Amino acid sequence: MGALLGSDDILKREKQSLLYFLQNTNEETLWDIFLEVQADLFFDREIQWLINNSGWIEAEKILEVGSGNGAYLSRLARNDPSKIYEGLEKEQRFVQKAQQKFNTDNISFFEGDAEVFNPEKVNSFDVVLFRLTLQHLNNPRKALKNAWKYLKSNGHIVIIDSYDPARKTSHPVHCIEKALEQMSALQKKKSAQGNRRITIELLNDISDPEKDLRNLYSLAESNLDINGKILYETILFSGEEDRKKLYSHMLFFLAIVQKKYNISTDWEKAYKEIRGYYDDKDAWLSPGLHFLVLKKINSAIVE
Ligand SMILES: C[S@@+](CC[C@H](N)C(=O)[O-])C[C@H]1O[C@@H](n2cnc3c(N)ncnc32)[C@H](O)[C@@H]1O
Repeated sequence: MGALLGSDDILKREKQSLLYFLQNTNEETLWDIFLEVQADLFFDREIQWLINNSGWIEAEKILEVGSGNGAYLSRLARNDPSKIYEGLEKEQRFVQKAQQKFNTDNISFFEGDAEVFNPEKVNSFDVVLFRLTLQHLNNPRKALKNAWKYLKSNGHIVIIDSYDPARKTSHPVHCIEKALEQMSALQKKKSAQGNRRITIELLNDISDPEKDLRNLYSLAESNLDINGKILYETILFSGEEDRKKLYSHMLFFLAIVQKKYNISTDWEKAYKEIRGYYDDKDAWLSPGLHFLVLKKINSAIVE
């Protein structure tokens, strides 16, 4: 099986060879394919939301924190080549891949840590994007404090992250729900290693006068309220094309969590269930993402 695959190739794969690949491929290659498949699944829907945001439309320079292998940022750059994009990423191997594949005049990648302040980036960006990254950080509030300094006056933080309780579907795919629960429980146990509910905590922070974050940002936009209740639906996957991409996304998600978190899967059972989801013409999923925009409070004093 080739290193980089699209959802069409994955769907055409014969079951045994696909299951063998998912279980025996190294984590690096799995991430590479997973992030591509994920960008392919989500991008068209997310861009509809992004371009309805005045902060995004007017932005000239955008920093993505936790840009991975560049799969998502490169789509943003293709969609609107008039802006400048930079990706900050902790993993050197991802930065190298992204540079080799996507570096052009208006997109570049550099190695760095969201939680370590980088004086070179002060007052540089109109938007700092955190897409599926805050949930992985040890100290997301520190990353947002750094980002405040990287933003120009009147800049915006754009956050897209998971909030699992907002997931809704025609019928749950049990192997996925179970893996999500196990992942969340593991993260809770080692509370320093990420949190899939972080965005609701942040939303609460910026409404609380006792919290530092309240002094740095005001709320510009959120599709969930402070209790996680859905205010408006952002993404609904349905139809053949979406189910095909979801099929790949679910299988590669299970392979990643098996490698990264040691969460084991009964592959025969999982395959049957996920294939069944793909075959069901009525299946739909609203993935439970939190879309959150914060506006920089220019007058804040940040040490
Ligand atoms: C799930 S991936 C999301 C990648 C990309 N944002 C996307 O939407 O496709 C999360 C990324 O955050 C990176 N990351 C985790 N902790 C980080 C940190 N402290 N600083 C910078 N990047 C970090 C990971 O290496 C990974 O590439």
